[in-house]
Amino acid sequence: MRKKVTIPEILQMKRDGRRITVLTAYDFPFARLADGGGVDVILVGDSAGVVFAGHDTTLPVTMDEMLYHVKAVRRADPKALLVADMPFMSCQSGVEDACRNCGRMIKEGGAEAVKIEGGMNMAHVIRAVSSIDIPVMGHVGLTPQSIHRMGGYKVQGRKEQAERIIDDALAVEAAGAFAVVLEGIPAKLAEQITAELSIPTIGIGAGPHCSGQVLVIHDILGLCEKYSPKFIKRYVELAPLISGAVKTYVDEVREGAFPTEEHSFN
Ligand code: KIV
Repeated sequence: MRKKVTIPEILQMKRDGRRITVLTAYDFPFARLADGGGVDVILVGDSAGVVFAGHDTTLPVTMDEMLYHVKAVRRADPKALLVADMPFMSCQSGVEDACRNCGRMIKEGGAEAVKIEGGMNMAHVIRAVSSIDIPVMGHVGLTPQSIHRMGGYKVQGRKEQAERIIDDALAVEAAGAFAVVLEGIPAKLAEQITAELSIPTIGIGAGPHCSGQVLVIHDILGLCEKYSPKFIKRYVELAPLISGAVKTYVDEVREGAFPTEEHSFN
């Protein structure tokens, strides 16, 4: 049987050069499937707001919504490390709010770590949350909660911007994060940051040289028809399979082909 993945194990994986696999999940069945597939970390991402709830951005996602998703994933009892994403404005208004909200994810949600977006600007928050023994995964580069500052989902850290992303990653590490997501930055920059940091880097749209990789589960399963950025790989096209199954069900009920004796009680 697979052993429970812990924070020390994630740190050891970087030291051993073993690549870390991270996938999002937002509910019980997908958490069971992701865990059964052997991922090291399940991230209950605030991407739930887009792929699950149908918003255009992650900004409207609330603490209560995230707690609902985290609790559902917890019930799957994953061997993977369970990381809860902190939604917009759950940590930005000060360390007291941040500690309280991160604490809720652990205490009420059953998460084992939290993820906080932001670099130098959020280092004081990451330090405070880490200091009360809540492990923090950082997230720098293209941070979706900063969509309005960035003016859209654009690659960050090109040319003279690179130094700022390096400083962000270093600040997150110095503040006590156990890992950091590098999103939407040039592959060479991600390689340099991965070499400079002692904590693992988890890439998404950051090339092949990070310590690990994260993707959104709806994207790898072909369930999100709304967008398809370059960094996504679809491992199966589930959307047409699901629509096909639903169409067959609808046809059979309309034609009287389902239910039959076989599906009936005496
Ligand atoms: O919300 C999310 O799912 C994320 C990952 C894609 C890194 O932040």
